[in-house]
Amino acid sequence: MTKSSMSRRRFLQSSGAAALWLPTTVKGYTASEIQALYVDGEMQENISKHELDTPALCVDLDLLEANIATMQATTRSNGIASRPHAKTHKTPVIAQMQLDSGSIGICTAKVSEAEAMYQNGIDEILMTTTNVTPTKIQRAMNLRQNCPGFVQATDSPQNARLLSEAAMAMGINADVVVDVDPGGHRTGITPRQPALELAQLINQLPALNLRGLLCYDGGSQHVKGFEQRKNQTLERLAAATETYDLFNQSGLSTEIFSGGGTGTYNIDHETRGLTDVQVGSYVFMDAQYVDIGGESDEEIYSDFHTSLTILTTVLNDQYEGRATTDAGAKACTINRPWARIKNETGISYSSGSDEFGSIRYDENASTKYKVGDKLELIVSHCDPVVNLYNQMYAIRDDKVEAVWQIAARGLSA
Ligand SMILES: Cc1ncc(COP(=O)(O)O)c(C=O)c1O
Repeated sequence: MTKSSMSRRRFLQSSGAAALWLPTTVKGYTASEIQALYVDGEMQENISKHELDTPALCVDLDLLEANIATMQATTRSNGIASRPHAKTHKTPVIAQMQLDSGSIGICTAKVSEAEAMYQNGIDEILMTTTNVTPTKIQRAMNLRQNCPGFVQATDSPQNARLLSEAAMAMGINADVVVDVDPGGHRTGITPRQPALELAQLINQLPALNLRGLLCYDGGSQHVKGFEQRKNQTLERLAAATETYDLFNQSGLSTEIFSGGGTGTYNIDHETRGLTDVQVGSYVFMDAQYVDIGGESDEEIYSDFHTSLTILTTVLNDQYEGRATTDAGAKACTINRPWARIKNETGISYSSGSDEFGSIRYDENASTKYKVGDKLELIVSHCDPVVNLYNQMYAIRDDKVEAVWQIAARGLSA
């Protein structure tokens, strides 16, 4: 009997037990080996997540499903919809889970993400970033030609004219929303009169179809403290509601008024006119979001679970007060706060080195790791972490249940 088949058998024997049995010498299944075991949407063998080669990106299915259900229940009871942002997961399977739960579509940040989603069966897509170059405009129009549910943002009269010319040249009508600036001046047109004039222009241009507006208040999402966050975002979105009113008074479409994110998902329905929240991070959560506090818990934002983790292996335990792992900046990013070790206290983690993670123990450390031990990290900021991996392992009860391709991974153009 090979070591690996013995491992699998011992795992199967232990699979009903309360505590997970961990093989002492695990094989470390590579991504391609696991992929080969995933046939027609089913794993052909029981593999513990602790048997994965590392670093590995894992998502806990129970927690992911709970996050999707919470978002759906909350938005529904608040009388708005969700249009989740696929920039976070870049994974068509997750987009489909969101749609199946009742989301009205998805958002993408890039035309390449939109293409990847469409190629994988997702056909209600709001692209929230403006396409300004001829190449990207052409790609967006090609997509629109095949995908009637593709809607793109525009934020200037010049851009709207370019979009209309490109659509006309292809003999199609392209759907657009006006991107309205909430005050951060990152993207979007100034609210009220400038936004109204842009909408009126769009309405007159021969090949554009105005669908409404979007206003994403990124500057408010991570404001610490629920009341502060609520006050800030409602104040900043007031101008978008005035713009929405102006559109309505002029007989322009406000069918879409999209905005909001994970930090404000249970506040945004108070912005009059808003139709849907373009929430991204809630599916996975991360250390940045956990720290902002929620309505029911001032310290920890616990509305959603931290479903996404990086599995890493300890490489060196020889030196007092520290250990080294195989998940550094290329597996975790260098975003702050640093990733955190799941279910441990008194141990800090940092990923400043390219290939190495650094563990430091303080006097209250809950454990000390040995070479070969595996540990799980709650990610610092989910979006850029996901973008580092080709696939994510969907885990239930510590077993690999599915292997999901991160189809839009690396698609930043
Ligand atoms: C335009 C836009 N909409 C929605 C989101 C989703 O935000 P969050 O991950 O905070 O839910 C983002 C995130 O950066 C964004 O840029």
